[in-house]
Amino acid sequence: MIRKMIGAVAVGAFLLALTGCSTASGTGSAGAAKAPGDIVVGFAQVGAESGWRTANTKDIQDAFAASGMQLKFSDAQQKQENQIKAIRSYITQGVDVIAFSPVVETGWDAVLKEAKDAGIPVVLTDRAVDSKDDSLYVSFLGSDFIKEGQKAGQWVVDEYKNQTDPVKIIQLEGTTGAAPAIDRAEGFADVIKADPKFQIVASQTGDFTRAGGKQVTEALLKSNPDATLIFAHNDDMGLGAIEAVEAAGKVPGKDIKIVTIDAVKDGMKALSDGKINFIVECSPLLGKQLVDIVKKVVAGESVEKRILTEETTFTQEQATAALPTRQY
Ligand code: AHR
Repeated sequence: MIRKMIGAVAVGAFLLALTGCSTASGTGSAGAAKAPGDIVVGFAQVGAESGWRTANTKDIQDAFAASGMQLKFSDAQQKQENQIKAIRSYITQGVDVIAFSPVVETGWDAVLKEAKDAGIPVVLTDRAVDSKDDSLYVSFLGSDFIKEGQKAGQWVVDEYKNQTDPVKIIQLEGTTGAAPAIDRAEGFADVIKADPKFQIVASQTGDFTRAGGKQVTEALLKSNPDATLIFAHNDDMGLGAIEAVEAAGKVPGKDIKIVTIDAVKDGMKALSDGKINFIVECSPLLGKQLVDIVKKVVAGESVEKRILTEETTFTQEQATAALPTRQY
């Protein structure tokens, strides 16, 4: 009998490995039937650096309010040490699940190990961690940032297909060390490298903020007055770049084309107005999916290790059509 049970557990574990699912085994909460009101989730947010982040925070807070679960929320103000402090505090409080969107990719193993040792499952939302040990989190819900960079690069390749002169590009990077900054740069470079006429003449971080995008563009336009394209890793930096381009006496969208990622309302409005030329969507609406993951984890059910967000791209016409019903 015991041998049969061991066999069944082994088969179950094998099937989970095959389907890429994971359970929060070894946690105090797995398998326990808890009422939603008794489930406590600690969420450690990156900050409030962009329109995307504001929409993401609202969506997560709304989804948990609707679920009846208790949400403890902290804002790390873009600092890894603040996020680590918040996670440690959730561990001390003994929450059922910790979710967080890591400010940067590296440096998480120690605190994630503490959560694991305390039997608290961790869900990554939006951004990944760079760790060799993927048992430190149960699931990662978010976009494919490399693909986003590739889509931006593909638009550039198509837009300039009939031009033989060099295309001098300024890249506004997201927060240094953050997964979306690393992956978007990689995806973009991968696609444009096939044609040497595409030259990234300057690449600097604007920290995903509008002020950062403006300041960096002002400086980089002075040292690279012949740049004709800006690739910004998010809408906010692209919106800051528009101000800098106009201040330099040039026309954004014409003299200098701008490609961004996110598709928040302000970005879509600028695209519709012709000041941005193309936007790759990155959805901040992760709340409902996160609630579902938490419910499953607390019930001891298996969850997918990697859950990808569905996203599209927008041209000027598509942005104009989408704006009236855009949620964020
Ligand atoms: O991690 C997602 C990125 O973070 C968004 O593209 C950006 O706007 C945000 O700050």
